[in-house]
Amino acid sequence: MTLPTLRDAVAGGIRGPVRLREELRASGVSPRVEPSSARSDLVVSGLRVRYGEQVALHGVDVEVPAGSCVAVLGANGAGKTSLLAAISGLHRPVEGEIRFGSVRIDRRPAHRIGELGICHVPEGRGVFPNLSVAENLRLTLEGDEEKVEAALERFGRLRERLRQRAGTMSGGEQQMLAVAPAVVGGYRLLLVDELSLGLAPVVVDELFSVLADLRAAGTAMVIVEQFADRALELADHAYVLRKGTVAYRGAAAELQGNPDLLHRMYLGGS
Ligand SMILES: Nc1ncnc2c1ncn2[C@@H]1O[C@H](COP(=O)(O)OP(=O)(O)OP(=O)(O)O)[C@@H](O)[C@H]1O
Ligand SMILES: [Mg+2]
Repeated sequence: MTLPTLRDAVAGGIRGPVRLREELRASGVSPRVEPSSARSDLVVSGLRVRYGEQVALHGVDVEVPAGSCVAVLGANGAGKTSLLAAISGLHRPVEGEIRFGSVRIDRRPAHRIGELGICHVPEGRGVFPNLSVAENLRLTLEGDEEKVEAALERFGRLRERLRQRAGTMSGGEQQMLAVAPAVVGGYRLLLVDELSLGLAPVVVDELFSVLADLRAAGTAMVIVEQFADRALELADHAYVLRKGTVAYRGAAAELQGNPDLLHRMYLGGS
């Protein structure tokens, strides 16, 4: 059986902030996240995810303490994207539990998870290529001019290109446009999948400094990254997934200072 991949879903127009917001709009629920005193810890327990016969996660436990940054690393096919997709409700797990604060979310549809303040920035650049930068921002930020202005303030490059069609911009500029709603949306937890893929180092620096500011302001995040160093620099905690299981869990600093350990975790040595 051929199942659509998440990449297909993204290519087909399904992307975190936009899709969640569209669904919210359709359901008449306000997408705005009100400040909440609830703890935003994410606790994933015994998560099992499969695609038909293919098991992607075999009972994974992950914790994201409130306001902290967790790096999820691992080789191709380790299950990183599957973990984020299960958390954001894009792919329903077959077993296990996911709690966000006091709310169990693993049986909720994606829009009801977004409503709690979780934003998924999926792999690949999700912009509307035929719309201008301004139109993209108005659409994804639902015409909230204050947030559009905040996005332009944060990504000055986009202001210079307001009338340009998004699809004609550089990869880095498109990625800025894609993450802008996540950055100014007032979310409590960001799930960021391969933000830096295919981008020039200077652009990656800029995007990571935006994440660092958000984190300093108290937004929790789970970062999946090819470039382990960048993610570990930002993160408090790190997980290495290997073939759908957790091969390492510990302080990000420990992995950062120990490239041999990281290498062994990726390759499956002890
Ligand atoms: N739609 C799908 N249908 C079938 N199998 C899938 C699907 N999506 C993922 N898989 C399989 O699930 C496993 C985990 O894939 P996943 O995309 O979560 O890994 P990943 O760590 O994100 O990899 P990458 O670094 O390549 O992005 C892999 O074996 C993959 O082939
Ligand atoms: Mg992936």
